[in-house]
Amino acid sequence: MEFMVETQDLAKTYTGRNGADVEAVKGIDLQISCGEIFSLLGPNGAGKTTTISMISCLLEPSRGDAHIGGFSITRQPL
Ligand SMILES: Nc1ncnc2c1ncn2[C@@H]1O[C@H](COP(=O)(O)OP(=O)(O)OP(=O)(O)O)[C@@H](O)[C@H]1O
Ligand SMILES: [Mg+2]
Repeated sequence: MEFMVETQDLAKTYTGRNGADVEAVKGIDLQISCGEIFSLLGPNGAGKTTTISMISCLLEPSRGDAHIGGFSITRQPL
């Protein structure tokens, strides 16, 4: 395990109220080392909450994966 948190093309598309796709997170790749302090900054609607929710296993990604301490959020969410 090289990084504590790592995402690979992590993406989420919601279905909006009008039925249209809302591409909330368009595929992010990030690496956070053990002991690193990492800030996730962005304007309203940038996808911060969606990203954290996926990394926390509260929301299923539409595409991609993330690893927390080496465990996959899609294959080993518990
Ligand atoms: N449940 C949902 N259904 C449809 N669209 C959603 C849903 N949740 C978020 N969105 C849309 O996804 C995009 C990203 O939203 P998100 O809440 O992740 O952004 P954020 O960076 O946390 O914003 P804020 O700074 O306002 O908290 C926005 O366009 C938002 O309207
Ligand atoms: Mg938010």
